[in-house]
Amino acid sequence: MQKLYINPLPVRIWHWTNAVGFILLIATGVQIRYLDLVQVISFKQAVVAHNWIGFVLIANFFLWLGFYLFSDKIKVYHPELSPSKYFRASFRQLAYYGYGIFRGDPNPHQMSAYRKFNALQSMTYQIIMLLVVPLQFFTGVLLWDVAGYSSMVELFGGVRVVDTVHVLIFIFFTGFIFIHPYLASLSHTPWAHYKAMITGYEEIEDESPQGGGA
Ligand code: HEM
Repeated sequence: MQKLYINPLPVRIWHWTNAVGFILLIATGVQIRYLDLVQVISFKQAVVAHNWIGFVLIANFFLWLGFYLFSDKIKVYHPELSPSKYFRASFRQLAYYGYGIFRGDPNPHQMSAYRKFNALQSMTYQIIMLLVVPLQFFTGVLLWDVAGYSSMVELFGGVRVVDTVHVLIFIFFTGFIFIHPYLASLSHTPWAHYKAMITGYEEIEDESPQGGGA
């Protein structure tokens, strides 16, 4: 058994703050949107909590971005530049998740300090962190002060468009919050990636390397 230091402290702090924050944002978001169905706290309390948590997560996002931009760990996100290599690796990973894993095949991705993500993870995490999350924060800030940002809101097609984008991304994250922890449990033990996101260290089996995850 080998130990690899793959999750530095800023990533771990960002990740668990972000995870708890997203769960609270989804819960308060449901309360705000579906007031007639859910009434755990008042509408006003839900709005105030939702706004505060949103701003905390925006600040937290810059911890993640700043850490990667100013450290050599950014390499873990460097994309594979050869499209054919990239698609072959993605296809192998998909086949593993959909089929090979049930036959006990080894994970096709072999983790190393600068290759902690498989092809699917690397692409998915980049789309989520550089596109979906910022768009959700941006639409959230516009909805927080529609009057103050009225010209920007109009530029994006009006408050209904901004609100629809925010709600669609909310639905996406509601699904993600279930699928991502499941995929993160696919390693040589269900808790291996979780432990690594707590201690920083991933344990790699010498015989059959497992480097999967969400
Ligand atoms: C219940 C909530 C969550 C749990 C249990 C969870 C679990 C994990 C675990 C175990 C890992 C390490 C394995 C891997 O890299 O795939 C991970 C990584 C990651 N998770 Fe989560 N997660 C949660 C919520 C979220 C949310 C809400 C987001 C984004 C909006 C997110 C984004 C990420 C990203 C980007 C990574 C890679 C981080 C990096 O190393 O740069 N996670 N998650």
